[in-house]
Amino acid sequence: MSTISIRNISPKDKTWVKTLMLESWGSEKVVVCGRIFEPATLAGMIAEMHHERCGLATYVISDTTCEIITLNSLQRGLGVGRALLDAVAQNAKEQGCNLFTLFTTNDNIDALRFYQKYGFHLAKLIPNGIQADRKLKPEIPRQGENGIPIRDYLELRMDLDT
Ligand SMILES: CC(C)(COP(=O)(O)OP(=O)(O)OC[C@H]1O[C@@H](n2cnc3c(N)ncnc32)[C@H](O)[C@@H]1OP(=O)(O)O)[C@@H](O)C(=O)NCCC(=O)NCCS
Repeated sequence: MSTISIRNISPKDKTWVKTLMLESWGSEKVVVCGRIFEPATLAGMIAEMHHERCGLATYVISDTTCEIITLNSLQRGLGVGRALLDAVAQNAKEQGCNLFTLFTTNDNIDALRFYQKYGFHLAKLIPNGIQADRKLKPEIPRQGENGIPIRDYLELRMDLDT
């Protein structure tokens, strides 16, 4: 099995992050519940296999909460997503955080499966939460994974103390 190494994002990764965001989410910006983020400017971790970048997690720390803003694995099912969350969690704990949180959309079944397996719980449903965000980012598609209409946000949370 290939070894996954995780490192902090550096200024040299900026162009790669922007391209990944464009390819994954249709824009260099992501909108989460009325908030606009530019992942290339956020704190983050990069996963590498064979010295090639294969994943990215970006996050924001506020008080004792660490919010994942984006998570992308380019080698799915090999442990890249898990390794990135482990590294962000470790870093967040060292900075005094006790809560991990994130928002995902109702269509993203793969992410919901992945996060719940990791230990996150469903904390909140925001029905039709995407509607307002489409005004901020018209690139958000109408349909997501498996042809499911993208409508709602789900907030997931996990204690970092345990
Ligand atoms: C969600 C995502 C980051 C998961 O990354 P990944 O590298 O495939 O995840 P891992 O390989 O670390 O998987 C961790 C666990 O989840 C399971 N898993 C991940 N994706 C799965 C899938 N599609 N089906 C079944 N199980 C899955 C793995 O089997 C593994 O379980 P284990 O730890 O018991 O072995 C990846 O699917 C992705 O990049 N999706 C597109 C971007 C996205 O939607 N991001 C989330 C937005 S909030």
